[in-house]
Amino acid sequence: MTHQGSVAYIEDIARYEGQPVVIRGWLHNRRSSGKIHFLTLRDGSGFIQAVMSKAAVDEDTFRRADHLTQETSLIVSGTVRADSRAPGGFELDASTLEIVGTSVDYPITPKEHGVDYLMDRRHLWIRSERQHAILRVRAEVIAAVRRFFDDRGFILADTPIFTPAACEGTTTLFPVQYFDDTTAYLTQSGQLYNEADAMALGLVYCFGPTFRAEKSKTRRHLTEFWMVEPEVAFATLEDVITLAEDLVVSVVQRVLERRMPELKRLERDVSKLEQVQKPFPRISYDEAVTMLNAKGQPFEWGGDFGAPDETVLASSFDRPVAVHRYPSKIKAFYMEPDPERPDVALCVDVLAPEGYGEIIGGSQRIADYDLLVRRIKEHDLPPEAFEWYLDLRRYGSVPHGGFGMGIERVVTWICGLDHLREAIPYARMLYRIYP
Ligand code: 4AD
Ligand code: MG
Repeated sequence: MTHQGSVAYIEDIARYEGQPVVIRGWLHNRRSSGKIHFLTLRDGSGFIQAVMSKAAVDEDTFRRADHLTQETSLIVSGTVRADSRAPGGFELDASTLEIVGTSVDYPITPKEHGVDYLMDRRHLWIRSERQHAILRVRAEVIAAVRRFFDDRGFILADTPIFTPAACEGTTTLFPVQYFDDTTAYLTQSGQLYNEADAMALGLVYCFGPTFRAEKSKTRRHLTEFWMVEPEVAFATLEDVITLAEDLVVSVVQRVLERRMPELKRLERDVSKLEQVQKPFPRISYDEAVTMLNAKGQPFEWGGDFGAPDETVLASSFDRPVAVHRYPSKIKAFYMEPDPERPDVALCVDVLAPEGYGEIIGGSQRIADYDLLVRRIKEHDLPPEAFEWYLDLRRYGSVPHGGFGMGIERVVTWICGLDHLREAIPYARMLYRIYP
C-alpha cells in the first residue's frame, strides 16, 4: 500500500491544510454509516477525525475500516481539510489505511468506568483524551519550572535519593536496606543537600522524585511525588516569598500560553487561572487563625491547618495566598525562628485558590550552629547523621532559604482535578503500587 504525503503529527496539522499527509497512530473511536466511516485517530500529539467515504477509496480499504476495533494501530493517509466544527479545527479526508497491530477487546470503552478499574489499567487509561491532556499540561509545568530557574541563573544540582536521615519528620520515612547492615531512607526532600549546594553555587535548585510514607488516604497525598526546590544563599523569608510568587505566576502563564487546547478539553475555567497575578496576598498564621474563627471554622492557635481550613482561607482570595510565620512547634527542625517572636518560624506555605490547598512550603533556615544543634536534639534526630549539615554552620554560615513546590499539587490545581492520582503518570499511594 502506498501512502501519500509526508508524515505529520496531529498537533502540527494546521501547517498542512490542503495537503496530503500520513498519520501514524491508533484508532480512538469509530462511527460508521453505510457510505462513510468516521475514524477518530490519535497519535500521541493529538486527536483528529478521519473521514473515509466509500466513493473515495477502493472497496477493500472501505471494508477493512468497517471492522476496525478500538486501539488498533494504523497508518492513514489523506488530505487535510479545515472544518470549523472539528475540535481541532481540521479533519482528514482519508485515502489509504494500513493496519499495523490489531487490538482485541480493549478494556477501556467509551462508557463510564470506576476509578479503581481505571487505575488498575493506568498504562492504558493514559491513552484517553482527558489523561492525555493532563499529562501534556504536566510536561508543560515541568518545562516552565526549569525555564524559570535556568533563566534566572539558578544552577541545577541533583540531590541524592538514598539518604541517611530524615528531612521532614521521622514518621513518613521509607527505609531501604542498603547492603548488609545499613538502613538508608528514600529522600523526603533534597533541601539539606540543597543548602550545601547553595553555599557552593549561590543559587541552586533540585528537581526530582521525593518519597513520604503517608499512611493516610487523601486526595492530596502521594507516597512518591515530584518536587522542585530552589535554595538561595543570603535569602530572607521575604526573598523566598517573592521567588515563590514569581515562579507560580510564570508557570501558570506559560501553561495558559501553550496548553490552552488541553485546558479546554479539561473544561477548566481559565478565567480563574488568568487571575493568578502578582502580588499574592500575604497573611500571617495569626491572621489566618483569626480569619478562620471569623468565618465560622473554629481553630485554636498552635495547630496545623487541615485541608478544610486551607480551603476556607483560600476562598477569601482570587489568587494564591502566602501564609507565613507558623508556630515553630508544628514545623520542621531547620526553620529559623522569627527574631522578634521566637515561638513562630520564618516560614511560608503558599495555598492555591479554589480549595486546592498547599502547593509550596518553604522557609529561612537556621544559620546559627548552637541553635541548630539544639533543634536536632529536640527533634530526636540522630546527631551523627547531621554532622555534615552542621559544617555549613561551622564554615561561613549565612542566612539562606528556599522552598519546595509539589508538581502534582500544581498540576491538580491548574487542571482542576479532584485527586492527585491523575496528575502523575503512575501514582503511588497507600494501596496502590500497580501497574
Ligand atoms: O512542605 P513540604 O513538606 O516542604 C519540604 O519538603 C521542604 N523541605 C521544601 C524546601 O523548603 N526545600 O513539601 C513541599 C511541597 C508541599 O507544599 C506540597 O506541594 C508537596 O511538596 N508535597 C506533596 N505532594 C504530594 N504528596 C505528598 N505526600 C506531599 N507532601 C508534600
Ligand atoms: Mg508543607
